[in-house]
Amino acid sequence: MGSKLIWYGHATLGLETGGYRLLVDPYFSGNPAAPISAERVQADFILVSHGHGDHVGDTVEIAKRTGAMVVSNYEIAGWMESKGVKTHGQHLGGGHWHEFGYLKLTFAIHGSMLPDGSYGGNPAGFLLSTLDGEKIYMACDTGLFGDMRLIGEEGIDLAVLPIGDNYTMGPDDALRAVKLIRPKHVIPIHYNTWDLISQNADAWASRVEAETTAKVHVLKPGEGFAL
Ligand code: NI
Ligand code: MN
Repeated sequence: MGSKLIWYGHATLGLETGGYRLLVDPYFSGNPAAPISAERVQADFILVSHGHGDHVGDTVEIAKRTGAMVVSNYEIAGWMESKGVKTHGQHLGGGHWHEFGYLKLTFAIHGSMLPDGSYGGNPAGFLLSTLDGEKIYMACDTGLFGDMRLIGEEGIDLAVLPIGDNYTMGPDDALRAVKLIRPKHVIPIHYNTWDLISQNADAWASRVEAETTAKVHVLKPGEGFAL
């Protein structure tokens, strides 16, 4: 039984794996690219990569309604807990066996201030080893960094990478990231939400497939990809 990833626009992901429903950076309210509203999603776990509003999004409301556990860095977990949400705090480089698989927080070059100005610790990416043994790397908001090569050494089946530029890697650096990570499959995110991060994902996909062995899956918001 493989995992299925759904892109809800911007950096919002749904992941069905091992019989569990995960949301990653659930930003629905105010997200011009979101195909559904926050009230309609279900979740057992919510992963939050960093404190920015377009990633914390509707986490508190969804977690309270569904009873989902929020997994994030220690500082964001504490902030969520103060709002009455069930949490599990981890930190960069640390992995933990959850019911849905082994989740490691990875390095990311970015900021992490929470919407109310609270300190949000260091931003993270996620490396998930599923119960079926698949490896999914979600870089989340980050610039290019050379240690993506170390992440790639784990053997990545699917890499989810930002390509929007301005706030994160743009297309050129995201192509270099694919060369460092060497994943089997790639999904681009964090683009076309606003004009400032508008990109031609199909053109990027052609470049990646011409220069690497990775297969790129350009999704429309609401579409999924099954591993
Ligand atoms: Ni951000
Ligand atoms: Mn962002």
